[in-house]
Amino acid sequence: MRSTVLALGAAALLGAGNVLADDIPTCSLDKRCPESAPCCSQYGQCGVGAYCLGGCDPRMSFSLDSCVPAPVCQDKTYKMDKASMSKIVDISEYLGDPSKADWVSQGEPVSYNDNTLLTMPKNSVGTVLASTTYMWYGSVKARLKTSRGAGVVTAFILMSDVKDEIDYEFVGTELTTAQTNYYFQGIPSYVNSGNITVTDTYANWHEYEIRWTPDQIQWLVDGQVGRTKLKSETWNATANQWDFPQTPSRVQLSIWPGGAATNAKGTIDWAGGPISWDSEDINNYGYYFATFGEIDVQCWDAKSPPGTNNGKSYYYNSYRATNDTVVDSNKRTDLASFLGTGTDMDAGKQTNTKGGSASATKSGGAKGTTVPQSIPGGGSAPAGQVPGGGSGTVSGGSGSGSSGSDGSGSSGDSGSASGDSNACGMNGFSQSCDDGGSGSGPSSKNNGAKTTAQGASALAAVVGFVGLMFL
Ligand SMILES: *[C@@H]1O[C@H](CO)[C@@H](O)[C@H](O)[C@H]1NC(C)=O
Ligand SMILES: *[C@@H]1O[C@H](CO)[C@@H](O)[C@H](O)[C@H]1NC(C)=O
Ligand SMILES: *[C@@H]1O[C@H](CO)[C@@H](O)[C@H](O)[C@H]1NC(C)=O
Repeated sequence: MRSTVLALGAAALLGAGNVLADDIPTCSLDKRCPESAPCCSQYGQCGVGAYCLGGCDPRMSFSLDSCVPAPVCQDKTYKMDKASMSKIVDISEYLGDPSKADWVSQGEPVSYNDNTLLTMPKNSVGTVLASTTYMWYGSVKARLKTSRGAGVVTAFILMSDVKDEIDYEFVGTELTTAQTNYYFQGIPSYVNSGNITVTDTYANWHEYEIRWTPDQIQWLVDGQVGRTKLKSETWNATANQWDFPQTPSRVQLSIWPGGAATNAKGTIDWAGGPISWDSEDINNYGYYFATFGEIDVQCWDAKSPPGTNNGKSYYYNSYRATNDTVVDSNKRTDLASFLGTGTDMDAGKQTNTKGGSASATKSGGAKGTTVPQSIPGGGSAPAGQVPGGGSGTVSGGSGSGSSGSDGSGSSGDSGSASGDSNACGMNGFSQSCDDGGSGSGPSSKNNGAKTTAQGASALAAVVGFVGLMFL
């Protein structure tokens, strides 16, 4: 039995304004988070605050209710135009109220020509956007143009907190293939993938759709069904369950360096080989990029489970985390501060005293000698282990970064940062230092970010070593 090991290369060095923690506890199905840092993030690390929001895996957290309930599905069209940028909020600024943000970001989204570019500057780990609401079945369409180049992966996926997953992934050397895949609770399987042939995904807009019902998944490109997977084909007699995605899922859009040197060889091979940081796109624009136009979500709206969204939020009432363990509830979804957890949502709440000055209440979640991490990745930097495109790298086959059968963390998490430390943009917050010609094409990003990135390069170096090793 394989197991996923999170290797923390060094003591966590947090960004300015944060405290130093000696180490960030890791979590898996076999190792739940400690009470002091109860929430297990999508990437297998324990903390409070943002760790308890989207992606928090209840099975690996201190208790089932450590994670904050997940906001229910909303029918919505996300334009991804300039005006939409204000609804894309950095993970360090989002506390769980979906009316305040459509997407939580890690990395560097950039507005360009009324579309949103997800960028991957030199030596960065790319960018990921995750929807703030969850779909429990339904349809999601994304109009997008992929990135290109060896080792560069673009992804449009659905991922639940217990790692049920439905994917589109695009490898930058195979621009006429949309790879599709699905996972049940992050369990790797080499037979779940399938390809759809399309015209050049970098040059052309296509509309990619995932149509997900309790009975089947369909992947459609430009309105044509390219692949259908029936639930009835997924019975697992050994486990006595349907190995079929069945739990509320966030929409995740990402660009990530599958070809980063720190990834497993299988992942690098799958991603089309080692990534070059001296490519045409890097030299012309300062980053690799994927272009996202309109995203459209239509909820399933079942009258009775599975697939309801009658209340405010979903939560799990059993570690089995199958469709029948999802509760459609009216529990709140927002924290008062980054000290909060599912069991202490008002921790750190600002209270106005008579004099009008604000003071914070003591956090129940922050006891002990080390203060738990509250933003995955630390400070304002995105998690180095981030921009996971989900488990998709598994499709590379043997040796690829698939998660172990403990299901802790799917392999896309191996989108770990490249290890080379570099003063530029390592944390995905700036464009490259040498932003060559930025005349045409996607505009260069705000220069203000550069300072941050340089100042954070030590952090970035550390973050860069946070990788997943697969045994
Ligand atoms: C999908 O395409 C990729 C790249 O061309 C290939 O390596 C892989 O084997 C294909 N997968 C399937 C299931 O055909
Ligand atoms: C059935 O489930 C077990 C336990 O989760 C898993 O190890 C196995 O790979 C599954 N079988 C298939 C054919 O996927
Ligand atoms: C969960 O899925 C099973 C198997 O398809 C189905 O029979 C059952 O009705 C579902 N249960 C709930 C509560 O959603």
